[in-house]
Amino acid sequence: MRSFLGRDILSLKDFGRDEFERVFQVADDLKPIARDRRNTDTLAGKTLLTAFYQPSTRTRLSTEAAMHRLGGHVLGFSDAKMTRAGDFYQESIKDTFHMLEYYGDVIAIRHFQQGAPAEAAKWASVPVINCGDGWGEHPTQVLTDLYTIRCELGTLDGLTYVLVGDMRMRTMHSILYALSQFDAEAIVVGPPEMSLLPEFKAELDALNVVYREAGDVRDVIEEADVIYMEPVVQADYAASREERKGETALTPPEYVVTRELLRDKAMRHSIILHSLPRMDELPADVDATRHQRYWVEAFNGVVMRMSLLSLVLGAAE
Ligand code: CP
Repeated sequence: MRSFLGRDILSLKDFGRDEFERVFQVADDLKPIARDRRNTDTLAGKTLLTAFYQPSTRTRLSTEAAMHRLGGHVLGFSDAKMTRAGDFYQESIKDTFHMLEYYGDVIAIRHFQQGAPAEAAKWASVPVINCGDGWGEHPTQVLTDLYTIRCELGTLDGLTYVLVGDMRMRTMHSILYALSQFDAEAIVVGPPEMSLLPEFKAELDALNVVYREAGDVRDVIEEADVIYMEPVVQADYAASREERKGETALTPPEYVVTRELLRDKAMRHSIILHSLPRMDELPADVDATRHQRYWVEAFNGVVMRMSLLSLVLGAAE
């Protein structure tokens, strides 16, 4: 297994099964710290720098919370528009990250351009963690999701994953890459105009990912061990920021999971994950059902980022 020390976390396409397992083991070891709301000195003397060029609630704050739990320092810009990358100069990724590496020991970046974290990693000698790049990937979220499934169902193998939502989403890309390492079948359900792109399908075929497409979650939910959701009514992830204007469209019923649908068709043990934020595709009354796991997924987001920070900074082998 390749060492995690000093490594960039950019994509799940190049993650091996043993590497997933190692990240999960370290998360298991560190989980009691987060559960007990303790802070340790594991990463004392280390600094996390967050460079977020797009809005975030969970990813940024859970990464920062993870660093605090491990006793490290955190700094970052609150609004990219208030940096030189966001003003008249439109400072390049190269110049920005060449410099940011002197300010921190690990950099977490979210950017609206696909590939920006990989470009940043070329110019920073410290580890760079992709916290979402345009329509590209969202590896830390999907590591959180897989860890949650492993904790809740005991395995990632032998499961059917029904993925519902916009298939251009970065989480959908990362999870489908990741499933190449497990005995898994995916059923993808999304609007035709938001379906998997041909070049991405070719990659999945090359990785032997087992998947099929379906048109309506109501036709396939009974097969799901895991129901993995994203909105279809959502922002353009290639934009730096998008504010809602006026009324939003309703999600078509083909991509909505209701409490009634779960009651009538889902297997008793099936679980629902949603990286959040949600729109109307997952009504709030589902929260009170036994299928809901998105709040434990949110907690695991801190645990997973603790694991990744420990590994890339050498506190865990
Ligand atoms: N799940 C997720 O990426 O949420 P944020 O956009 O709030 O970080």
